[in-house]
Amino acid sequence: MTYRIKLTSALMLGASCFATAAWASELTVVPEAPVFQGQGKVNYVDRGDVYEYKALSAYHEPEYITKNFVDKGRLPPVQERLPKEPLVFKTANMPDGIGVYGDVLRHVIGGRPEGWNYQAGQIQGWGGSDIAMYECLTRTAPLFQIKAEDMEPLPNLARSWEWSEDGHKLTMHLIEGAKWSDGVPFTSEDVMFFWEDNILDPNVSPTNGASPGTFGEGTTLKAIDDYTIEWTFKEAFPKQYLYNMAYGTFCPGPAHMLKPQHPKYSKNTYEQYKNAFPPDFLNWPVMGAWSPVLYRPDDIIVMRRNPYYWKVDEQGNQLPYLDEIHFKLSTWADRDVQAVAGSGDISNLEQPENFVESLKRAAQPTAPARLEFGPRLIGYNLYMNFSANGWGDPDARGQAVRELNRNEHFRKAVTMGLDRQKLGEALVKGPFTAIYPGGISSGSSFYDRESTFYYPFDLDGAKKELEAAGLKDTDGNGVVNYTDGPMKGKDVEITLLVSADYSTDKNLAEGVIGQMEKLGLRVILNALDGKQRDNANYGGKFDWTVNRHGPELTAVVQNTEQLAAVGPKTSWFHRAPESGELDLMPFEQQLVDVINKFIATQDVAERASLMKEYNKIATTNVNSVGLTEYPGALIINKRFANVPPGTPIFMFNWAEDSVLRERLYVPADKQGDYELAKDTLPGKPGEKGPVE
Ligand code: GLA
Repeated sequence: MTYRIKLTSALMLGASCFATAAWASELTVVPEAPVFQGQGKVNYVDRGDVYEYKALSAYHEPEYITKNFVDKGRLPPVQERLPKEPLVFKTANMPDGIGVYGDVLRHVIGGRPEGWNYQAGQIQGWGGSDIAMYECLTRTAPLFQIKAEDMEPLPNLARSWEWSEDGHKLTMHLIEGAKWSDGVPFTSEDVMFFWEDNILDPNVSPTNGASPGTFGEGTTLKAIDDYTIEWTFKEAFPKQYLYNMAYGTFCPGPAHMLKPQHPKYSKNTYEQYKNAFPPDFLNWPVMGAWSPVLYRPDDIIVMRRNPYYWKVDEQGNQLPYLDEIHFKLSTWADRDVQAVAGSGDISNLEQPENFVESLKRAAQPTAPARLEFGPRLIGYNLYMNFSANGWGDPDARGQAVRELNRNEHFRKAVTMGLDRQKLGEALVKGPFTAIYPGGISSGSSFYDRESTFYYPFDLDGAKKELEAAGLKDTDGNGVVNYTDGPMKGKDVEITLLVSADYSTDKNLAEGVIGQMEKLGLRVILNALDGKQRDNANYGGKFDWTVNRHGPELTAVVQNTEQLAAVGPKTSWFHRAPESGELDLMPFEQQLVDVINKFIATQDVAERASLMKEYNKIATTNVNSVGLTEYPGALIINKRFANVPPGTPIFMFNWAEDSVLRERLYVPADKQGDYELAKDTLPGKPGEKGPVE
């Protein structure tokens, strides 16, 4: 009874209700997710507990560096390689304390490196490879362990910041005296080059989708001096953007390498600029803990410690503790297999098809790796392309689908036509997957079940909605036809874009196709490898796409602008064509208004209520068609120390960042013999390999 009353009042308060078409199945709040036990417990701390910036009286480095490099005059002493005040990790926050040098973290990844120009849109193959190389102005991955009342991004390359009194200016102080891994100073020039010639240059599309809208339309940035930058925002105190200055939207590259290749400063085309540093260009200068020194296509990327890394522990030991990291070039599914078998060291267990086998193996006392589940933060949506004014240049068929996508009856038909229980069970049986109607992740702190609405599975009701959308099987072949417009009489055919790199993505897409067939929609699979899929997605070249969601739906405060089309390029499924004009539907405009309000306020209660409103509008209007959601597990080899308890594989960022790899170590008695480039360091940029 109470449930019903709550539900009705929630609905009446709801910002949007459909005109009453005949609903066979009633809109309801989403059912409670099955209880899932066995999640790791997080140790919550304050922001200042993790690290600080200060000078220590002495610094140390691995012995081989002193002996073979410093003593021979090939490298300056460690204190000269460090900034005046390095970033110092606090021992009290280290689960196992100060570490020792040596050993390797062996990753397995499913992607392939295109080259090192991440800032101009090249990928390194994901799986933590880019995160190992690039550092960003702020850092958000470790926020999973920060107390809610102290929630704000952690400093990183920007060591501190202050707001002007009116809140429109933000002054950031960059770490002073830090150097790229080739010894060249890191300064505001690196930051300004990324901003002016990559983010603001319309011909460059940085990886992870940074665009001017990521930092608020109309935002400007300037350098005050080598170590000070100043942002100017249209809004007052938009603290929200501090999250987007973290991975992956504000991680500058080495201007001393990139700038001379940029079309503004050279004769290069944009394509030449982007491709100027292919994966076999080794020893790429990084601010991250490791730089690539060996690369064998379809085999491995080996990275060695950055001798100029600007982070230390409280005893002055220069980080990272791990001298080397590997990225074996295989498949994502193989990452799970190798991690549980012990031939790889770390995996985000995120494909439910692998859950049962991995759990079984990890439960054995001799298992080399431990496995720990986190909250239900992995989720998949079916996104429909909402642009009807030209994004991605659709042909007549594509345009007709876009118009269907914009029809509320059609979206309702699709969502009601999906049996989510079945979709989830086809991936894995048991309490893992939950019915997910779309909207904010149930594992998010912003989630509120009472404002999450969904249309239960009802095939007959769905068919009626299709009819209400003007579709009818006029030729009796089981596929509905257009009854009006330029496509009149034709079967409705929809292409479904999906990544071919993950079995889960493909299985979900195939599940959707099968269920849509029963509804009378012909959906055709367009499975592309990860990078091609991204390009098709960014370019708007899709009717529908099935996609794993990002931090906008889990952390919510990270990449918030992706939750609605607040700018021409911020949404993943509704972007503007070249004209820059967005043809927003009324409910999308409501979403935009809510998100803009959210970004503009710091009031915790207001933010919580705005997100409820967002979720209500998004789910009742079927902004996206949620498919399934489930928890993921971190698998990591037992020899590693300093793994933070309860690290989620995904929240603000991926676990590769949240585990703070620069602080991981292997106790001396457990160290393996895995180094492929022992006692070496990265050489000069472009040299054939590391130096001994
Ligand atoms: C891929 C993997 C994730 C994670 C990220 C890191 O997307 O599927 O588990 O490793 O890369 O960027």
